[in-house]
Amino acid sequence: MKFALCLLALLNLGALRPVGGRASAPISTAALEELAYPFDVEAVSAEAQQPQVRVQRPGDNEVALVEEDLPQGRVYYNGSQLWKVLVDKRENIELLVTLREDKDISMWGGNSTTVDVLVKPNSVEKVRKIFKDNKVGFDIVIEDLQKVIDEENPAVIELDDRRGHRLTWQAYHRLTDIHGYLDYLAETYPDLCSVQTIGQSVLGKDIKVLKVSNGKPGNKAMWVDGGIHAREWISPSTVTYIINQFVTNIESEPASIQNMDWYFAPVLNPDGYEYSHTVDRLWRKNRARGVGQCSGTDLNRNFGYRWGGKGSSKNPCTETYGGSGPFSEPETASVERFIRSIQNWKAYISFHSYGQYILYPWGYDRVVPPDYKDLEAVARRAAQAIRTAGGPSYTIGPAGGTLYPASGGSDDWAKGVMKMKYAYTIELRDSGRFGFVLPANYIQPTAREALAALKVIAEAAYLA
Ligand SMILES: *[C@@H]1O[C@H](CO)[C@@H](O)[C@H](O)[C@H]1NC(C)=O
Ligand SMILES: *[C@@H]1O[C@H](CO)[C@@H](O)[C@H](O)[C@H]1NC(C)=O
Ligand SMILES: [Zn+2]
Repeated sequence: MKFALCLLALLNLGALRPVGGRASAPISTAALEELAYPFDVEAVSAEAQQPQVRVQRPGDNEVALVEEDLPQGRVYYNGSQLWKVLVDKRENIELLVTLREDKDISMWGGNSTTVDVLVKPNSVEKVRKIFKDNKVGFDIVIEDLQKVIDEENPAVIELDDRRGHRLTWQAYHRLTDIHGYLDYLAETYPDLCSVQTIGQSVLGKDIKVLKVSNGKPGNKAMWVDGGIHAREWISPSTVTYIINQFVTNIESEPASIQNMDWYFAPVLNPDGYEYSHTVDRLWRKNRARGVGQCSGTDLNRNFGYRWGGKGSSKNPCTETYGGSGPFSEPETASVERFIRSIQNWKAYISFHSYGQYILYPWGYDRVVPPDYKDLEAVARRAAQAIRTAGGPSYTIGPAGGTLYPASGGSDDWAKGVMKMKYAYTIELRDSGRFGFVLPANYIQPTAREALAALKVIAEAAYLA
């Protein structure tokens, strides 16, 4: 019973994400579900992890235990290690659940055969011994996470300002550079580009949307967003890369790109994005002031379709806290209001990382919509386009069945409520070598392949 509850807590984190439906999968997802779902989510929340992380500050000799909601200072990951752990036996999962409960580890992602596990510095020896005693196979993928964080993002080289903006695709930029770039485009290409502020974040930062359109009446509309999850830095970079390709090259694009009203929202979670730059590189949620010490709502559990179901937590201290109600957060409420104000939607694309997946609804459970074959066919062509563009393999499938069920996601809402035909969540690179901390030199190859996939979806949306 205790184990089952803990397992659900772990699964609620969205961390362990077994691939479903394969007879060859060592741990069947059905088995996991059977363990997980006789229980009430509320009951799990009561005993879910409390909000503490071990951090080490420069100059400190001791590892301090600090509240998650740090009032000042930065979270450091000196000595934290990323391990790829084999989960070929159910006992291995049980072990991970226990270690997570004891706050020795946290989970980043994985599939039915391996889980990416972040081991806290003071727990490295303990976990190593437990794995040895229990014959749990693992590889150390990152020896010192802080080192990778320090090297991930080179300083932006200051150029003279003749281009009128500071954005590059050689580094991950702060919000002002991204917003400055959107404003620059609207000024430079007034017949093609316009910027709208669709709302403000919890802390009052603008949520900006760039519309790219030739203004033809009868154009269909496509939505592309990034940065719902703060730490997934490759996502906003990918969206701005795509914008740049379209805007600077629009005459040579096919009709499906030219005669489309594009709405790009590169950073839907501006507070979280900035926080992941300035305080905690691994921050995921928005910065809503929560109950007690725990802050942040998972914006991708806060959308208003089947809100609050499987894979979403009612505990504000968890990474998948869905908020106090559907669209309780200003960031998601702004998106809802804006999208409802426009007709002719055909597609909704949300970029996330990591894992290399092209996922379509439904996410809320292991079920698919009636037209799933259309979604599957386009996803397959998109994955093929990625390979043709020289990219790696992307797994395609319905979100709930391919990963673990997760309710309140943006793509489910786009499909289920707004009736957009082609709704996808694309999990960009990588497959767990760097995970969320993907070095900036991967921005261009990753964004290039995402562009190839997006063009395939645009073609389908154009004909829909
Ligand atoms: C932890 O990492 C930071 C950033 O690299 C560094 O400045 C600091 O000296 C490190 N602390 C220790 C105790 O190694
Ligand atoms: C799980 O991910 C690892 C890479 O992290 C990969 O080698 C393995 O093939 C994947 N397994 C499945 C079933 O997709
Ligand atoms: Zn995400």
